[in-house]
Amino acid sequence: MNKKIIALIVAILIIVVLGIIVGINFVSNNNEVASQNQTQMQNQSNRESQTNNQELGQIANNETNANENQNNEVAGNGKVLVVYFSHTGNTETVANFIHEAVGGDIVKLEAVEPYTDNYNDLLDIAQEERNENVRPELSTHIDNIDEYDTIFLGYPIWWGDMPMAVYTFLDEYDLSGKTIAPFVTSGGSGLSGTPSDIEDEEPNATVTEGLSIRDSNVRNSQNSVEQWLSQIGF
Ligand SMILES: Cc1cc2nc3c(=O)[nH]c(=O)nc-3n(C[C@H](O)[C@H](O)[C@H](O)COP(=O)(O)O)c2cc1C
Repeated sequence: MNKKIIALIVAILIIVVLGIIVGINFVSNNNEVASQNQTQMQNQSNRESQTNNQELGQIANNETNANENQNNEVAGNGKVLVVYFSHTGNTETVANFIHEAVGGDIVKLEAVEPYTDNYNDLLDIAQEERNENVRPELSTHIDNIDEYDTIFLGYPIWWGDMPMAVYTFLDEYDLSGKTIAPFVTSGGSGLSGTPSDIEDEEPNATVTEGLSIRDSNVRNSQNSVEQWLSQIGF
């Protein structure tokens, strides 16, 4: 009887010990599987986040280059330069609207001898320059003008004409083969026939329809600018 009880207790003990050993193995295996799963999930999430980042980077690049590619070319219109003369800032404002819309480069034409800020004196000086057909020397030089395909050319109307400094610009550079898009600001005279003066100066260039903005409307001219840009293919 005693022997039977002892044998039973030993058998129970063996079963319990075996059960503990199997249990420990099971837990440790599960832990390994769990940690493998965790590593796999981590790797996958890293890969996904890398892909997402790459995609985001691509979108950002595409957005940066929506208008321009790496050569600064504006889609379908080659390389663009906005060049302008402006004494009191009106034409400069329109030039900046154009530049913001189409990209490319922008350059302000400046005379070696600056024009006076006295309005009445300026009227006299500008009239005299026009009557004598002078070419005021420019301090602005554009060494890489050959690289551009389209030139937006902006100026105020002075005495029903382009300021003579703009004639100096047209004399200095051969714009053959390029497209010139003229834009002006004025007190009300409009383009004053200046696009055909540009055609006379640059007979081998293509001169587009011009844009004319009244000086009092310059601040609110962004829509007109964009409308004109789309009319001429931008
Ligand atoms: C010397 C001079 C002559 C001008 N002649 C005319 C003109 O013939 N017709 C006109 O509508 N506005 C004329 N204006 C007004 C300017 O064209 C207008 O204010 C222009 O927007 C100025 O541009 P800016 O600020 O870029 O210099 C003249 C202005 C000046 C200073």
